[in-house]
Amino acid sequence: MIGDDFAELKLFITGPILLREEVRKAGLLPEFGHRDSENPKRFGPIMENLMTIAGNPEGYIPVIFNGSGTNVLESSVRSLVADSEKVLNVSVGAFGDLYHQLAVLNGKNAVQLKFSYGRAVDLDKLDAALRDHKPDVVTFTHNETSTGVTNDVVAICEMIRAHGAKPIIDAVSIFGGAPAMISECRPLMYCTSTQKSLGLPAGYGIGFISDEALEKAESVQNRGYTTDIIGQAAKARINQTLTTPNGTLANQLCVQLDYIVNDETVDGRFKRHEEMRAIAHKWVESMDGYGLFAQEGYRSPSMTAFKTPAHMSIARLKEVKELMRGHGYLFDPGYGKINKELEELGESPIFRVGHMGDIMPGMLAEYLEVLGGVLKSFK
Ligand SMILES: Cc1ncc(COP(=O)(O)O)c(C=O)c1O
Repeated sequence: MIGDDFAELKLFITGPILLREEVRKAGLLPEFGHRDSENPKRFGPIMENLMTIAGNPEGYIPVIFNGSGTNVLESSVRSLVADSEKVLNVSVGAFGDLYHQLAVLNGKNAVQLKFSYGRAVDLDKLDAALRDHKPDVVTFTHNETSTGVTNDVVAICEMIRAHGAKPIIDAVSIFGGAPAMISECRPLMYCTSTQKSLGLPAGYGIGFISDEALEKAESVQNRGYTTDIIGQAAKARINQTLTTPNGTLANQLCVQLDYIVNDETVDGRFKRHEEMRAIAHKWVESMDGYGLFAQEGYRSPSMTAFKTPAHMSIARLKEVKELMRGHGYLFDPGYGKINKELEELGESPIFRVGHMGDIMPGMLAEYLEVLGGVLKSFK
């Protein structure tokens, strides 16, 4: 029968992620009409709980977009950068680069400030770029999933505002795993998605959209339809989505957010992610030749990127992946483009361990023990 050979792997990649049993079961809840009275039973609590996880920032509305994180990022560019304006895309890795690509492909006047892989945004360099380019809007990544770097969102937003520009934040791989700091940062938009730290399947992008953004969008031409934050927010205000939502995911989202807010608690979830970061950091001390890739002080609570010793290669990490599959795990052999570039520079590759969503500290410790054994078999 179809599905009989689908492997039940424990996912330790950086999204999609392992799903709690209750989330999987919630996928069996009844389908519903998205313009029917059944709809607010799901989306009412969803909106409220999203705001709770975001720290209830005043002047923001949560909006559910069909698609995934990229759809929200694209929507922010389409809706918030006018033809007469300039956007500066600050990048510390592959997903920062993606924001720039989205801006360019949508015909925006876009410039980029790039930092080396593994480094966080350097405020002095940002200051200089803001002075040079005088952008109207600046995008950057809260948690760079390709390198395991978490940027100091508050300091970055403060600096952007000091130059009279307006920040937009990509928080795809951290929302639900650490404080969003929206009230402190006051970005135009804070963008995320379901399949990372919230512990759900992919299928929705989520944007926390400010009143300031909705006002700004009024003066931007050609915002599109599904990428228009004004149209999206109008539906969100009545607890609906602009286009037909994935009902299975809506049921799962409703159940999972209730669990996060009322069972695990938001603070408890954030603390668990910090605890898992500490476990990952401690583990690498026992791994001769391995190290942490991200800059000290900017290491992610939702995933860790590891440097490998000289004897490791992209090909060997692929072998590790298959050996880990044999142990029932899905291993992440690093972000492809970054490892290719590192190898071209004569450096050994990185690999990543996702510890986001509903992975528990004990599960992570078990995984790392098995992984340690596998890695040590390579000399
Ligand atoms: C930081 C970051 N931004 C954007 C994306 C793209 O999001 P999606 O794959 O949900 O479209 C990802 C996906 O991994 C990500 O980690």
